[in-house]
Amino acid sequence: MISHEYIEELVRRNDITDIIGRYVQLRHRGRTPTGLCPFHSEKTPSFVVYPETQSFYCFGCGAGGDVITFIKRINNLDYVEAIKYLAAQAGMPMPDEDDQVGRLRSRILAMNKLAARFFYDQLNQDTPQAQQARGYWRGRGLSDATIRRFGLGYAPDSFDGLQNHLRSKGYTTDELMASGLVKRSEKSGRLYDTFRARVMTPIFDLRGNVIAFGGRVLGDEKPKYINSPETLVYKKSKAMFALNVAKKETSRRYILCEGYMDVISLHQAGFPTAVAACGTALTADQVRLLGEYADEVILCYDSDEAGQKATARSLGLFAESPVKVSVLNIPNAKDPDEFIKKFGSSAFERLLNGSSNAIEYKLQKAKADLDITNPAQRAEYLKQAIEILTDHVSPTEQDIYAGRLAEETGVSKQAVLTQLASLQRTKYRRKKRQQQKDLLNEGLASDIRIPYGTMNSQQALGAASAEQYLVVAMVKNPQFIPQVVESVKPEQFLGKEMQSIYQAIVDCSQKQMVPDLTTLAMRLPEEQTNLLAKLLARSYEIPIAQRDVQMYLERIHRTQPQSAQAADMNAQQMEDYLEQIRRKKMGNS
Ligand code: GTP
Ligand code: MN
Repeated sequence: MISHEYIEELVRRNDITDIIGRYVQLRHRGRTPTGLCPFHSEKTPSFVVYPETQSFYCFGCGAGGDVITFIKRINNLDYVEAIKYLAAQAGMPMPDEDDQVGRLRSRILAMNKLAARFFYDQLNQDTPQAQQARGYWRGRGLSDATIRRFGLGYAPDSFDGLQNHLRSKGYTTDELMASGLVKRSEKSGRLYDTFRARVMTPIFDLRGNVIAFGGRVLGDEKPKYINSPETLVYKKSKAMFALNVAKKETSRRYILCEGYMDVISLHQAGFPTAVAACGTALTADQVRLLGEYADEVILCYDSDEAGQKATARSLGLFAESPVKVSVLNIPNAKDPDEFIKKFGSSAFERLLNGSSNAIEYKLQKAKADLDITNPAQRAEYLKQAIEILTDHVSPTEQDIYAGRLAEETGVSKQAVLTQLASLQRTKYRRKKRQQQKDLLNEGLASDIRIPYGTMNSQQALGAASAEQYLVVAMVKNPQFIPQVVESVKPEQFLGKEMQSIYQAIVDCSQKQMVPDLTTLAMRLPEEQTNLLAKLLARSYEIPIAQRDVQMYLERIHRTQPQSAQAADMNAQQMEDYLEQIRRKKMGNS
């Protein structure tokens, strides 16, 4: 555990506006610098930094927190890594990693490094097994240089080869288990090596640590691939194979493949910006991570059905990202690896340069699924195409595609454009309405004043909003804390989230700590930190006086003891209830 004092000092020395200003172009209007949110794609700035509470909040996507949260998210780091990063920025000595988790993490990384070395050495033994493994890699067209560059290896056909090796270096059973390199048999209770008789590919993180392995059988047995389980150092959904290599390139055009064999073979063929999501479907985290290095991503999945499904899914994930995405169709081969083997790297280069953009790809797909000589299906095609063209498509592009659609379907271009415009208006209105709704919801505490005593659930809602105000008041003005703590116990809070935030505030104050956002973030799950950042953002302009605090306290007391109402409402009931109030308010005005 890194000490509270250290974190306080760290946050003091890393001013949030300075740090965020390195990633986001901030416009300083008034007291709150504002910019385009780096966590979602937007054209009008809704990302706000609050120097006074040293917090940030995006009114578009809801991302929020303190400087540590920001660094965590923007650099895809875990908590300790973010601390180290900020420590380096501020020229502070690193915090002691004497905490148990940190220590285990380093031990696992060290074991992984030893294991990678072990697999590599095994590949180069003079045994028939090793010869066969070398033959496998060569058979896949890999040169010795490529094998070395990627640290490829071989896990021998043995139940304890790696285990014995690691034990000889002083690693304990618990540590072996935590590394995922070793498993325990449910039947016998004995430990055995996870990877046996497989060719091995180490997976590196951005700094070149070995964080996991993928192992492939040499023949056709199943399962074809085994990957490391998730460990302290390996979060599947955040890892990108070969990104540590690709990021060193100046080119910001990335090639995203389905498997690591494709990546390795592309690198060997002279495409060093090929990467893959390791053994899972692409995730939003990976898209965000890629977006930090890539301006353009070419999806280069297998040509089979599974690959095409994955392509469609991934396109969806890229829709919100600033990265320009396009899709490569691989003709006459099942994947890029095979294509390069058959036709060579210059053919692949030509293919890359002609890769069709995402709109083109979606349109072609819609067309291929339908028979456009049939009038009903032609109409369906038109409908789907128009739907596609309303999403993230520039007016120029719309015009070009409308022309083409007109030709394809025999409908006039003007009619296509009219329909397009009308659907776009509908979508825009729908979106606005949704935003309005979200805003009203956000305003739960600040917008809705609920008269006392009319309904129990209204009282409860009033108390719930008072709780939010009180929490904000205490974080912004710690002088209010003693009075509140004296008067309300955490159990008396109706909102569950607010209750745990309040509990954290009470804990801090008992330890004589100032419960600022950073201190609370150490004690709260990320969602609650985020919620708190949002509340601080929302009430930024609202000064809170002594008599307000008194009023909030009264509101809470009024609901006691028959209190459970709001806390018992589920999200839907709460939503219905809010809707009811909104209607009333609108009716009145
Ligand atoms: P090769 O047959 O070695 O060329 O593999 P490939 O790269 O063509 O793999 P394939 O297209 O079969 O699968 C793409 C990716 O899915 C692989 O790189 C793996 O990450 C994953 N994958 C494939 N088969 C398995 C499996 O049996 N288990 C697991 N966990 N992942 C698999
Ligand atoms: Mn494949």
